[in-house]
Amino acid sequence: MYDESDSRGGALCEILWADSQEFGSKQSLSAEDQELARTFLFQPRRRQFETGRTLVRRFFSQKLGLSPENLRIAVDATGKPFLLAEGLGLPYQFSIAHSGRIVVCAFSKDIRLGVDIERVRRSYDWLRTACAVLTADEINTLLAYSPSRRARAFYKLWTKNEALAKATRTGISQTVRSRRKSAVEVGKPDVSGWTSAPVKTRSSYVGTVVVESVTCRFETRQEHLTSNT
Ligand SMILES: CC(C)(COP(=O)(O)OP(=O)(O)OC[C@H]1O[C@@H](n2cnc3c(N)ncnc32)[C@H](O)[C@@H]1OP(=O)(O)O)[C@@H](O)C(=O)NCCC(=O)NCCS
Repeated sequence: MYDESDSRGGALCEILWADSQEFGSKQSLSAEDQELARTFLFQPRRRQFETGRTLVRRFFSQKLGLSPENLRIAVDATGKPFLLAEGLGLPYQFSIAHSGRIVVCAFSKDIRLGVDIERVRRSYDWLRTACAVLTADEINTLLAYSPSRRARAFYKLWTKNEALAKATRTGISQTVRSRRKSAVEVGKPDVSGWTSAPVKTRSSYVGTVVVESVTCRFETRQEHLTSNT
C-alpha cells in the first residue's frame, strides 16, 4: 500500500512531459492499452496516447513499486482516465494533455487538477477562435497585451480554460459562453480557490496546469522514453 507524507506541507503537483516521437515499441503498456492504441489510425495520435499511458504507468509504478504493465487504467463516462487503485490506498489524481509531439501528465494528491498544452501556431487565426470561445473579460485581457504578444497570451488563456474544464469536467458539457468562472479569475487563488501555473516544455508550446488549492508547489521534469522502465 502506498504511504508517503510530504514533510514540507502544502499541495504538490508533479508534472512529467515527454516527446512522443521517442516512443518505441518496447514501452510498458498493458494489453488493454495496446488494444486501445491500435484504434488510433493516425500514427502521431497513437503515439500521443501511448506516451501518455507510459508516463502515467511510470509515475505510479515508481510510487507503488509495481510493474507498470500490471496497473489498470480505466476511462469514465466523460472520457477521463483514472487508475483502478482499489486496495492500493493511492490518493492521486492525474490529467493528460498532448499537442504535436509533446505529451504532459500532471499528478496531485487528493486535489482536483487539469492540464493542457498547445503548440503555438503563428499562422493560426486565434482572434477568430478567441471571439467564439472566450468571455468578454478574457478578450479584454488579451487586448491589453502588445500585438506581438497576443498570440501567446491567447494560448495561455486557452490552455488555462481547457485545463480547468478537465479538472472540473463541467466545462466539457457546457458551452464556453456559459462558463461561470473565466480563466482570468482562476489565476487568482484568493478569489477562486484554484492555482494555475505554466507548464514549461519546448519553447514553441504553451501549457497550463490548474489545481484546486490556494498554495501549491509545481515540479516539472522531462522523461525520456528511450530509457528503460
Ligand atoms: C475533453 C477535452 C478536454 C480534450 O481536450 P483536447 O484538446 O481534445 O485534447 P488534450 O490533448 O488536451 O487532452 C486529451 C486527454 O485528455 C484526457 N481526457 C479526455 N476526456 C477527458 C475528460 N472528460 N476530462 C478530463 N480529461 C479528459 C485524456 O487523457 C486525453 O488523452 P488520451 O485520449 O490520449 O488518454 C476537450 O475536448 C473538451 O471537451 N474541452 C472542453 C471544452 C471547453 O469548455 N473548453 C474551454 C476552452 S476556452
